[in-house]
Amino acid sequence: RGTDGVTSEDTLLLMKPNIVGRAEMDVQRIVTESGLRVILTRTLQMDKMQASQFYTEHQERSFFAELVDYVSSGPVVAMLISGPDAIRHLRKIVGPTDPAIARLEHPNSLRALFGVDKTMNSFHASDSHESASREIHFINSY
Ligand code: TYD
Ligand code: MG
Repeated sequence: RGTDGVTSEDTLLLMKPNIVGRAEMDVQRIVTESGLRVILTRTLQMDKMQASQFYTEHQERSFFAELVDYVSSGPVVAMLISGPDAIRHLRKIVGPTDPAIARLEHPNSLRALFGVDKTMNSFHASDSHESASREIHFINSY
């Protein structure tokens, strides 16, 4: 519960390997200036098994192997984000899955600014209370 009496919720932001080591300060600033709070930040390296578990909902998709290779290709930075309506709010800040679409429709979004292509889109943000809870536990269990 925030100081103003509005209920806060937690969500997870992941910076994927291609932007780790160069955009942390910008990302923290953009998230914070939007009114959300960065509660804690943790750098970790997922192996292929862990990346497959993290993205298990996509295991039948054609892009799954590419996605798992990408996310396990180097360290990721996990940020626990909190605030009113944080899950929806953070998804908006992150922007559309495809950075090309993001650059057209949401040019100030993180994927527009830092994404490369549909696979290498530089960020993950939880999409529901259920996935936020699961993903925060997943990261915490490291
Ligand atoms: P998805 O859950 O559809 O996107 P989001 O991250 O916006 O919730 O897909 C999960 C990740 O899978 C996405 O961030 C990047 C990757 N992906 C591809 O590589 N190719 C694709 O065609 C799609 C839809 C996703
Ligand atoms: Mg998704």
